[in-house]
Amino acid sequence: VVVPLILAGGQGTRLWPMSRAARPKQFLPLTGPTSLFQQTLERVANQRYAAPVVITNSEYRFIIGEQAAEIGVDLTAVLLEPVARNTAIAIIAGAAFISRRFGPDSLIHVLPSDHKVIVDDGYWASLDNAADAATRGQLVTFGISPTYPETGFGYIRSEARVGGAASAVQHFAEKPDAERAHKMLSEGGYLWNSGMFMLEARRLLAEAERLAPDTYRAAVESVAQAREDLDFIRLEEASFAKAPQISIDYAIFEKTERASVVAVDFAWSDLGSWDAVWKNGEQDDAENVSVGAVTLTDVSRSLVITDHAHVAVTGLEDIAVIATNDAVYVGRLSEAQKVSDVVKRLKSRQ
Ligand code: GDD
Ligand code: MG
Repeated sequence: VVVPLILAGGQGTRLWPMSRAARPKQFLPLTGPTSLFQQTLERVANQRYAAPVVITNSEYRFIIGEQAAEIGVDLTAVLLEPVARNTAIAIIAGAAFISRRFGPDSLIHVLPSDHKVIVDDGYWASLDNAADAATRGQLVTFGISPTYPETGFGYIRSEARVGGAASAVQHFAEKPDAERAHKMLSEGGYLWNSGMFMLEARRLLAEAERLAPDTYRAAVESVAQAREDLDFIRLEEASFAKAPQISIDYAIFEKTERASVVAVDFAWSDLGSWDAVWKNGEQDDAENVSVGAVTLTDVSRSLVITDHAHVAVTGLEDIAVIATNDAVYVGRLSEAQKVSDVVKRLKSRQ
Protein backbone atom coordinates (compact mmCIF):
# COMPACT_ATOMS: atom_id res chain seq x y z
CA VAL A 1 0.00 0.00 0.00
CA VAL A 2 0.83 3.65 -0.39
CA VAL A 3 0.69 5.99 2.59
CA PRO A 4 -0.89 9.39 1.80
CA LEU A 5 0.86 12.33 3.44
CA ILE A 6 -1.46 15.31 3.29
CA LEU A 7 -0.06 18.82 3.70
CA ALA A 8 -2.64 21.00 5.35
CA GLY A 9 -0.67 23.76 7.03
CA GLY A 10 -0.68 26.60 4.47
CA GLN A 11 -2.47 29.87 5.07
CA GLY A 12 -3.80 30.63 1.58
CA THR A 13 -3.38 34.38 1.90
CA ARG A 14 -4.30 35.15 -1.73
CA LEU A 15 -7.87 34.10 -1.04
CA TRP A 16 -8.46 36.79 1.58
CA PRO A 17 -10.98 37.59 3.05
CA MET A 18 -12.63 34.15 2.74
CA SER A 19 -9.39 32.44 3.63
CA ARG A 20 -8.17 33.54 7.06
CA ALA A 21 -5.30 32.40 9.19
CA ALA A 22 -7.89 30.70 11.41
CA ARG A 23 -9.73 29.05 8.52
CA PRO A 24 -7.60 28.86 5.38
CA LYS A 25 -8.74 27.97 1.91
CA GLN A 26 -8.21 24.22 2.08
CA PHE A 27 -11.03 23.97 4.63
CA LEU A 28 -13.55 26.13 2.74
CA PRO A 29 -16.25 24.75 0.43
CA LEU A 30 -14.86 26.76 -2.51
CA THR A 31 -16.01 24.63 -5.40
CA GLY A 32 -18.97 22.64 -4.08
CA PRO A 33 -20.39 21.15 -0.90
CA THR A 34 -17.07 19.75 0.39
CA SER A 35 -13.76 21.50 1.04
CA LEU A 36 -10.63 20.86 -1.01
CA PHE A 37 -9.14 19.13 2.05
CA GLN A 38 -12.13 16.77 2.15
CA GLN A 39 -11.85 16.17 -1.59
CA THR A 40 -8.20 15.25 -1.02
CA LEU A 41 -9.21 12.74 1.67
CA GLU A 42 -11.82 11.26 -0.66
CA ARG A 43 -9.21 10.69 -3.38
CA VAL A 44 -7.23 8.43 -1.04
CA ALA A 45 -10.15 6.65 0.62
CA ASN A 46 -9.74 3.40 -1.31
CA GLN A 47 -7.84 0.14 -1.06
CA ARG A 48 -4.74 1.43 -2.81
CA TYR A 49 -3.94 3.46 0.27
CA ALA A 50 -3.39 3.18 4.01
CA ALA A 51 -5.35 5.66 6.16
CA PRO A 52 -3.77 9.09 5.58
CA VAL A 53 -1.24 10.94 7.71
CA VAL A 54 -2.04 14.65 7.88
CA ILE A 55 0.60 17.22 8.80
CA THR A 56 -0.51 20.68 9.79
CA ASN A 57 -0.07 23.41 12.33
CA SER A 58 -1.65 23.05 15.67
CA GLU A 59 -4.29 25.73 15.08
CA TYR A 60 -6.04 23.55 12.49
CA ARG A 61 -6.19 20.33 14.51
CA PHE A 62 -9.88 20.43 15.35
CA ILE A 63 -11.12 21.48 11.93
CA ILE A 64 -9.15 18.56 10.45
CA GLY A 65 -10.79 16.08 12.80
CA GLU A 66 -14.23 17.55 12.15
CA GLN A 67 -13.90 17.57 8.38
CA ALA A 68 -12.57 14.00 8.25
CA ALA A 69 -15.38 12.77 10.51
CA GLU A 70 -17.99 14.61 8.41
CA ILE A 71 -17.14 12.47 5.39
CA GLY A 72 -16.40 9.32 7.42
CA VAL A 73 -12.65 9.05 6.71
CA ASP A 74 -10.31 7.61 9.37
CA LEU A 75 -6.80 9.04 9.71
CA THR A 76 -3.64 7.21 10.73
CA ALA A 77 -2.39 10.30 12.54
CA VAL A 78 -2.45 14.07 12.62
CA LEU A 79 1.07 15.45 13.10
CA LEU A 80 1.21 18.94 14.58
CA GLU A 81 4.00 21.37 13.78
CA PRO A 82 4.94 23.60 16.72
CA VAL A 83 5.89 26.43 14.32
CA ALA A 84 5.46 26.90 10.57
CA ARG A 85 8.70 26.22 8.66
CA ASN A 86 7.27 25.54 5.17
CA THR A 87 7.04 22.26 3.28
CA ALA A 88 10.60 20.83 3.40
CA ILE A 89 10.44 19.95 7.07
CA ALA A 90 6.72 19.11 6.87
CA ILE A 91 7.35 16.45 4.21
CA ILE A 92 10.62 15.15 5.67
CA ALA A 93 9.13 14.88 9.18
CA GLY A 94 6.11 13.14 7.65
CA ALA A 95 8.46 10.67 5.94
CA ALA A 96 10.37 10.07 9.19
CA PHE A 97 7.08 9.34 10.97
CA ILE A 98 5.83 7.03 8.21
CA SER A 99 9.17 5.23 8.12
CA ARG A 100 8.84 4.43 11.85
CA ARG A 101 5.14 3.53 11.68
CA PHE A 102 4.93 1.65 8.36
CA GLY A 103 8.57 0.77 7.61
CA PRO A 104 11.36 2.55 5.68
CA ASP A 105 10.42 1.15 2.28
CA SER A 106 6.86 2.50 2.44
CA LEU A 107 5.75 4.43 -0.61
CA ILE A 108 4.45 7.88 0.25
CA HIS A 109 2.08 9.94 -1.86
CA VAL A 110 2.53 13.58 -0.82
CA LEU A 111 -0.61 15.58 -1.45
CA PRO A 112 -1.26 19.30 -1.06
CA SER A 113 -4.75 19.85 0.29
CA ASP A 114 -5.70 22.84 -1.81
CA HIS A 115 -5.81 21.49 -5.35
CA LYS A 116 -8.74 20.71 -7.59
CA VAL A 117 -8.12 17.39 -9.35
CA ILE A 118 -10.43 15.48 -11.67
CA VAL A 119 -10.11 11.77 -10.94
CA ASP A 120 -10.51 9.58 -14.02
CA ASP A 121 -8.68 6.60 -15.56
CA GLY A 122 -5.80 8.86 -16.56
CA TYR A 123 -5.36 9.82 -12.94
CA TRP A 124 -4.90 6.24 -11.76
CA ALA A 125 -2.61 5.42 -14.70
CA SER A 126 -0.37 8.36 -13.75
CA LEU A 127 -0.25 7.13 -10.16
CA ASP A 128 0.77 3.62 -11.27
CA ASN A 129 3.56 5.06 -13.42
CA ALA A 130 4.75 7.17 -10.50
CA ALA A 131 4.64 4.25 -8.07
CA ASP A 132 6.74 2.13 -10.48
CA ALA A 133 9.49 4.72 -10.59
CA ALA A 134 9.31 5.42 -6.85
CA THR A 135 9.78 1.71 -6.14
CA ARG A 136 13.00 1.93 -8.18
CA GLY A 137 14.25 4.69 -5.88
CA GLN A 138 13.18 7.77 -7.81
CA LEU A 139 11.66 10.86 -6.18
CA VAL A 140 8.72 11.31 -8.50
CA THR A 141 6.95 14.56 -9.30
CA PHE A 142 3.71 14.92 -11.25
CA GLY A 143 4.05 17.35 -14.16
CA ILE A 144 1.24 19.40 -15.66
CA SER A 145 1.33 20.75 -19.23
CA PRO A 146 1.71 24.50 -18.76
CA THR A 147 -0.77 26.89 -20.36
CA TYR A 148 0.56 30.36 -19.44
CA PRO A 149 3.76 31.79 -17.90
CA GLU A 150 2.78 31.39 -14.21
CA THR A 151 5.55 32.58 -11.88
CA GLY A 152 4.13 30.91 -8.76
CA PHE A 153 4.96 27.34 -9.83
CA GLY A 154 7.97 25.13 -10.31
CA TYR A 155 9.07 24.26 -13.88
CA ILE A 156 10.47 20.87 -14.85
CA ARG A 157 12.41 20.09 -18.02
CA SER A 158 12.18 16.47 -19.15
CA GLU A 159 11.34 14.19 -22.01
CA ALA A 160 8.22 12.84 -20.30
CA ARG A 161 5.23 12.26 -22.53
CA VAL A 162 1.66 12.78 -21.30
CA GLY A 163 0.25 9.52 -20.01
CA GLY A 164 3.62 7.74 -20.31
CA ALA A 165 6.15 6.36 -17.85
CA ALA A 166 8.26 8.51 -15.54
CA SER A 167 11.23 10.24 -17.11
CA ALA A 168 14.31 11.87 -15.55
CA VAL A 169 14.02 15.49 -14.42
CA GLN A 170 16.71 17.33 -16.38
CA HIS A 171 16.16 20.64 -14.69
CA PHE A 172 13.88 21.94 -11.94
CA ALA A 173 13.33 25.69 -11.54
CA GLU A 174 11.11 26.80 -8.67
CA LYS A 175 9.13 30.03 -9.06
CA PRO A 176 11.03 31.65 -11.96
CA ASP A 177 10.74 35.37 -12.69
CA ALA A 178 8.34 36.44 -15.45
CA GLU A 179 11.04 36.60 -18.11
CA ARG A 180 12.28 33.05 -17.45
CA ALA A 181 8.75 31.73 -17.27
CA HIS A 182 8.01 33.22 -20.70
CA LYS A 183 11.21 31.77 -22.07
CA MET A 184 10.54 28.25 -20.76
CA LEU A 185 7.00 28.32 -22.10
CA SER A 186 8.08 29.37 -25.60
CA GLU A 187 11.07 26.99 -25.64
CA GLY A 188 8.80 24.05 -24.82
CA GLY A 189 9.76 20.80 -23.12
CA TYR A 190 8.78 22.05 -19.66
CA LEU A 191 6.02 20.94 -17.29
CA TRP A 192 4.66 22.65 -14.19
CA ASN A 193 5.35 20.90 -10.93
CA SER A 194 1.97 20.01 -9.48
CA GLY A 195 3.29 19.85 -5.92
CA MET A 196 2.26 16.18 -5.54
CA PHE A 197 5.05 13.66 -5.09
CA MET A 198 5.44 9.88 -4.93
CA LEU A 199 8.53 8.58 -3.14
CA GLU A 200 9.94 5.92 -0.88
CA ALA A 201 10.36 7.07 2.73
CA ARG A 202 13.99 5.90 3.05
CA ARG A 203 14.98 7.45 -0.29
CA LEU A 204 13.66 10.88 0.61
CA LEU A 205 15.29 10.66 4.03
CA ALA A 206 18.64 9.71 2.47
CA GLU A 207 18.48 12.60 -0.03
CA ALA A 208 17.44 14.99 2.74
CA GLU A 209 20.36 13.93 4.92
CA ARG A 210 22.72 14.72 2.04
CA LEU A 211 21.12 17.85 0.55
CA ALA A 212 19.34 19.46 3.50
CA PRO A 213 21.09 18.17 6.63
CA ASP A 214 19.69 20.83 9.01
CA THR A 215 16.15 20.13 7.93
CA TYR A 216 16.77 16.39 8.08
CA ARG A 217 18.10 16.55 11.64
CA ALA A 218 15.25 18.79 12.81
CA ALA A 219 12.71 16.43 11.22
CA VAL A 220 14.13 13.20 12.60
CA GLU A 221 14.67 14.58 16.12
CA SER A 222 11.27 16.24 16.37
CA VAL A 223 9.61 12.97 15.34
CA ALA A 224 11.71 10.83 17.71
CA GLN A 225 10.78 13.10 20.62
CA ALA A 226 7.16 13.69 19.60
CA ARG A 227 4.45 13.56 22.23
CA GLU A 228 1.01 12.01 21.80
CA ASP A 229 -1.80 14.30 22.87
CA LEU A 230 -5.29 12.79 22.50
CA ASP A 231 -5.59 12.04 18.78
CA PHE A 232 -2.65 14.23 17.84
CA ILE A 233 1.09 13.81 17.61
CA ARG A 234 2.92 16.94 18.66
CA LEU A 235 6.35 17.21 17.04
CA GLU A 236 8.97 18.31 19.54
CA GLU A 237 9.39 22.08 19.40
CA ALA A 238 13.04 22.80 20.18
CA SER A 239 14.39 20.52 17.44
CA PHE A 240 11.64 21.35 14.92
CA ALA A 241 12.20 25.09 15.31
CA LYS A 242 15.84 24.68 14.22
CA ALA A 243 14.71 23.82 10.69
CA PRO A 244 15.22 26.55 8.10
CA GLN A 245 12.15 28.10 6.51
CA ILE A 246 12.31 26.49 3.04
CA SER A 247 10.03 24.57 0.69
CA ILE A 248 10.72 21.03 -0.52
CA ASP A 249 11.07 22.36 -4.06
CA TYR A 250 14.14 24.48 -3.22
CA ALA A 251 15.52 22.15 -0.54
CA ILE A 252 15.36 18.87 -2.48
CA PHE A 253 13.92 18.99 -5.98
CA GLU A 254 16.14 21.74 -7.41
CA LYS A 255 19.19 19.78 -6.18
CA THR A 256 18.61 16.04 -6.34
CA GLU A 257 19.73 13.88 -9.24
CA ARG A 258 17.16 11.25 -8.36
CA ALA A 259 14.04 13.09 -9.50
CA SER A 260 11.68 11.82 -12.18
CA VAL A 261 8.48 13.24 -13.54
CA VAL A 262 5.27 11.70 -14.77
CA ALA A 263 3.46 13.96 -17.25
CA VAL A 264 -0.07 13.62 -16.00
CA ASP A 265 -3.12 12.94 -17.98
CA PHE A 266 -5.74 14.53 -15.78
CA ALA A 267 -7.22 17.94 -15.06
CA TRP A 268 -5.52 19.81 -12.24
CA SER A 269 -5.56 23.29 -10.84
CA ASP A 270 -4.11 25.06 -7.85
CA LEU A 271 -6.97 27.19 -6.57
CA GLY A 272 -4.49 29.69 -5.23
CA SER A 273 -6.13 32.95 -6.24
CA TRP A 274 -9.58 34.38 -6.95
CA ASP A 275 -8.76 34.31 -10.61
CA ALA A 276 -8.30 30.51 -10.43
CA VAL A 277 -11.52 30.08 -8.45
CA TRP A 278 -13.31 32.00 -11.21
CA LYS A 279 -11.72 29.85 -13.96
CA ASN A 280 -12.82 26.68 -12.16
CA GLY A 281 -16.26 27.85 -11.13
CA GLU A 282 -19.55 27.48 -12.95
CA GLN A 283 -19.74 30.43 -15.31
CA ASP A 284 -23.03 31.85 -16.56
CA ASP A 285 -23.64 33.25 -20.06
CA ALA A 286 -21.85 36.48 -19.21
CA GLU A 287 -18.89 34.50 -17.79
CA ASN A 288 -19.75 35.41 -14.22
CA VAL A 289 -19.30 33.10 -11.29
CA SER A 290 -21.42 33.89 -8.27
CA VAL A 291 -21.81 32.14 -4.95
CA GLY A 292 -24.39 33.04 -2.29
CA ALA A 293 -27.03 35.80 -2.38
CA VAL A 294 -25.90 37.74 -5.45
CA THR A 295 -27.77 39.89 -7.99
CA LEU A 296 -25.89 40.95 -11.13
CA THR A 297 -27.08 43.40 -13.77
CA ASP A 298 -24.99 44.16 -16.80
CA VAL A 299 -21.90 42.51 -15.26
CA SER A 300 -19.45 40.26 -17.09
CA ARG A 301 -16.28 38.22 -16.50
CA SER A 302 -16.60 38.70 -12.77
CA LEU A 303 -16.53 36.71 -9.56
CA VAL A 304 -18.92 37.60 -6.76
CA ILE A 305 -18.98 35.56 -3.57
CA THR A 306 -20.84 36.31 -0.38
CA ASP A 307 -21.40 34.19 2.68
CA HIS A 308 -23.72 36.59 4.42
CA ALA A 309 -25.03 39.89 3.09
CA HIS A 310 -26.88 40.18 -0.23
CA VAL A 311 -24.51 41.66 -2.83
CA ALA A 312 -25.79 43.51 -5.91
CA VAL A 313 -23.48 44.70 -8.67
CA THR A 314 -24.32 46.68 -11.79
CA GLY A 315 -22.44 47.78 -14.89
CA LEU A 316 -19.00 46.34 -14.21
CA GLU A 317 -16.60 43.99 -15.93
CA ASP A 318 -13.60 42.01 -14.65
CA ILE A 319 -14.18 42.51 -10.95
CA ALA A 320 -13.93 40.35 -7.88
CA VAL A 321 -16.23 41.03 -4.95
CA ILE A 322 -15.68 38.80 -1.94
CA ALA A 323 -17.96 39.62 0.95
CA THR A 324 -17.67 37.96 4.35
CA ASN A 325 -19.15 38.65 7.71
CA ASP A 326 -16.46 41.11 8.74
CA ALA A 327 -14.45 42.02 5.62
CA VAL A 328 -15.12 42.80 1.96
CA TYR A 329 -12.64 42.75 -0.90
CA VAL A 330 -13.28 44.52 -4.22
CA GLY A 331 -10.70 44.57 -7.00
CA ARG A 332 -10.02 43.74 -10.63
CA LEU A 333 -10.37 40.01 -11.14
CA SER A 334 -7.43 40.01 -13.57
CA GLU A 335 -5.23 41.54 -10.84
CA ALA A 336 -6.24 39.03 -8.21
CA GLN A 337 -2.62 38.40 -7.12
CA LYS A 338 -2.69 41.82 -5.43
CA VAL A 339 -4.76 40.42 -2.59
CA SER A 340 -1.59 39.21 -0.89
CA ASP A 341 -0.38 42.85 -0.68
CA VAL A 342 -3.54 43.67 1.26
CA VAL A 343 -2.87 40.81 3.65
CA LYS A 344 0.74 41.95 4.13
CA ARG A 345 -0.44 45.49 4.97
CA LEU A 346 -3.01 44.20 7.41
CA LYS A 347 -0.44 41.99 9.10
CA SER A 348 2.11 44.79 9.43
CA ARG A 349 -0.50 46.89 11.23
CA GLN A 350 -1.21 44.28 13.90
N1 GDD B 1 2.03 21.16 6.99
C1 GDD B 1 2.37 22.22 6.32
N2 GDD B 1 3.26 23.10 6.86
N3 GDD B 1 1.83 22.43 5.11
C2 GDD B 1 2.21 23.54 4.44
C3 GDD B 1 3.12 24.49 4.94
C4 GDD B 1 3.68 24.25 6.25
O1 GDD B 1 4.47 25.01 6.79
N4 GDD B 1 3.27 25.48 4.02
C5 GDD B 1 2.48 25.15 2.99
N5 GDD B 1 1.82 23.98 3.23
C6 GDD B 1 0.89 23.25 2.36
C7 GDD B 1 -0.14 24.14 1.69
O2 GDD B 1 -1.35 24.11 2.44
C8 GDD B 1 -0.32 23.46 0.35
O3 GDD B 1 -1.27 22.41 0.47
C9 GDD B 1 1.05 22.83 0.05
O4 GDD B 1 1.69 22.72 1.32
C10 GDD B 1 1.93 23.62 -0.91
O5 GDD B 1 2.25 24.88 -0.34
P1 GDD B 1 2.02 26.22 -1.15
O6 GDD B 1 2.45 27.35 -0.26
O7 GDD B 1 0.64 26.28 -1.71
O8 GDD B 1 3.09 26.07 -2.31
P2 GDD B 1 3.08 26.82 -3.69
O9 GDD B 1 1.75 26.73 -4.35
O10 GDD B 1 3.63 28.20 -3.50
O11 GDD B 1 4.17 25.98 -4.55
C11 GDD B 1 4.13 24.56 -4.62
O12 GDD B 1 3.01 24.12 -5.36
C12 GDD B 1 3.01 24.50 -6.77
C13 GDD B 1 1.77 23.94 -7.42
O13 GDD B 1 0.62 24.32 -6.76
C14 GDD B 1 5.45 24.10 -5.26
O14 GDD B 1 5.56 22.70 -5.10
C15 GDD B 1 5.53 24.48 -6.75
O15 GDD B 1 6.68 23.90 -7.34
C16 GDD B 1 4.29 23.96 -7.46
O16 GDD B 1 4.31 24.35 -8.84
MG1 MG C 1 -0.19 26.31 -3.67
